[in-house]
Amino acid sequence: MSLYITTPLYYVNDTPHIGHAYTTIIADVLRRYRRMYGEETLFLTGTDEHGQKVQTAALKRGLTPQAHCDEMVLNFQNIWKELGIDYDIFYRTTQPTHVKAVQACLQDLYDRDEIYTKEFTGWYSVSDEIFYTEKDLVGGKAPTGSEVGLVTEKNYFFKMSKYQDELIAHIEKNPTFIAPESKRNEVLGFLKKPLQDLCISRPKARMSWGIEMPFDKDYVTYVWFDALLNYAVGVGFKIPDGEAQFEKWWTTCGATHLMGKDILTTHAVYWTTMLMGLRAPLPKQIFAHGWWLTESNEKMSKSKGAVVKPLDMKNMVGVDGLRYFLTRDIHLGNDAQFSQDLVIARVNTDLANNFGNLLSRSTNLIDKFFGGHVPDIKFSMPASLALAKQAEALPEIVHHEVMAMAPNRAIEAVTDLLSAANKYMEDQAPWKSLKAAGDDVEKLNLGGEALLVSLECLRFAGILLSPVMPVKMAELLKSVGWGNLPSINDVKKFQMIPAGTAIAKAAPLFPRIESAS
Ligand code: MSP
Repeated sequence: MSLYITTPLYYVNDTPHIGHAYTTIIADVLRRYRRMYGEETLFLTGTDEHGQKVQTAALKRGLTPQAHCDEMVLNFQNIWKELGIDYDIFYRTTQPTHVKAVQACLQDLYDRDEIYTKEFTGWYSVSDEIFYTEKDLVGGKAPTGSEVGLVTEKNYFFKMSKYQDELIAHIEKNPTFIAPESKRNEVLGFLKKPLQDLCISRPKARMSWGIEMPFDKDYVTYVWFDALLNYAVGVGFKIPDGEAQFEKWWTTCGATHLMGKDILTTHAVYWTTMLMGLRAPLPKQIFAHGWWLTESNEKMSKSKGAVVKPLDMKNMVGVDGLRYFLTRDIHLGNDAQFSQDLVIARVNTDLANNFGNLLSRSTNLIDKFFGGHVPDIKFSMPASLALAKQAEALPEIVHHEVMAMAPNRAIEAVTDLLSAANKYMEDQAPWKSLKAAGDDVEKLNLGGEALLVSLECLRFAGILLSPVMPVKMAELLKSVGWGNLPSINDVKKFQMIPAGTAIAKAAPLFPRIESAS
């Protein structure tokens, strides 16, 4: 198996907020898990740089659109770096290879009569970059709530409507093609109404910041048509010498597109029919996740003014604290609330307490009673064997949940082990037995066994949570005497830390965070 995972290409009209960071972090977490389980993976993200929104943002700043994009892109790249995003491809829709490939696609469709021209009147939303019909409007506004204006113009259209039945058949035949299931049903519901053809051009006279139509220099390409193509062009589609790469990642592996539910239709309907028109295979999965909501339960978005900056959160709880919260506190597909207090509470409970206490307790006691070296002991207590069994079952559970796109449940299974280990420590209270042991080897061994078991639980958790918290888990693994890079081979067997390994008192892994409010 292999994985080709993508995020949407983000608009460069502004800097990213938590919503954008979320999609990117989840894609990163999923890819790191799948890589750890031995799959070959490819992760594409990037920026959507054409269109009205970007042109307007550039104009406001007194810059050319390209200069504005070049600056904003650095911002995105820097933030992704700060958030530990390990992408393979950063895709920009202004890069010349993309422009050429989009024009090649348009020419191909035009030559095969998949594109035609007509005069058209519609309600256009600048903020959504979408034309709506009269019927779509809700109270004089777009269904998304944005303002619309009536626009009449000659444009080019892609014959989207002719693929309606083929698309319905594909969705019905492939139950996990659109996920989660509720979203699949929504798309099928949407497809019950006759599908329109797709307006894929903008007259330059109105909006010039786009890819010129290869067959009409007075027009540029509609930004969605241009941007969606990235997913295929990014792996070689319509690129000179790109066939082998395209065959490998697009045709054989198949793409997993991760995005927010706000842009499911553009992916599930526009993109899929575009591919049908281009005679290219469809992606493997289109997965729509939910939204992070503000405390008043509104979608966090720039236009509503209620955004949290990812780097502000990083400064407060650390990069791994933020990644942990975003992966743990939402079930992929559902909505959840985001607030500073929720993040702090989660980090304190799960990381500072559950994780941190176990680490500091066990390393402190090893330092105190075993001269900072792992004792040479074989497990014998039933409670130890039960924990070993729980730990050894984890790799399969984590894998199952990751494949089911439920990384939150994978995390829960691991933190359950840490909770069980903390309870075990409370029950065994090795700090008491070790203090009372004196030279009694049997008592020393029992206390030592408890410490060794908790070290092993920490090692398992450290490896199995490293895709979520790469930096902190590397620190943790060092603290428990495990110098190797996280590998799935090392969580097959409990008790792998060799006797005699030096263990120092660990500094607090996740210091408790005091609430700012
Ligand atoms: N440029 C288009 C996508 C083109 S893909 C070929 C676009 N860009 S965007 O900058 O608006 O980013 C939208 C994406 O940001 C959503 O699909 C989602 O992935 C993410 N989110 C934005 N706000 C969000 C929340 N409040 N919560 C979760 N994710 C959200 O649309």
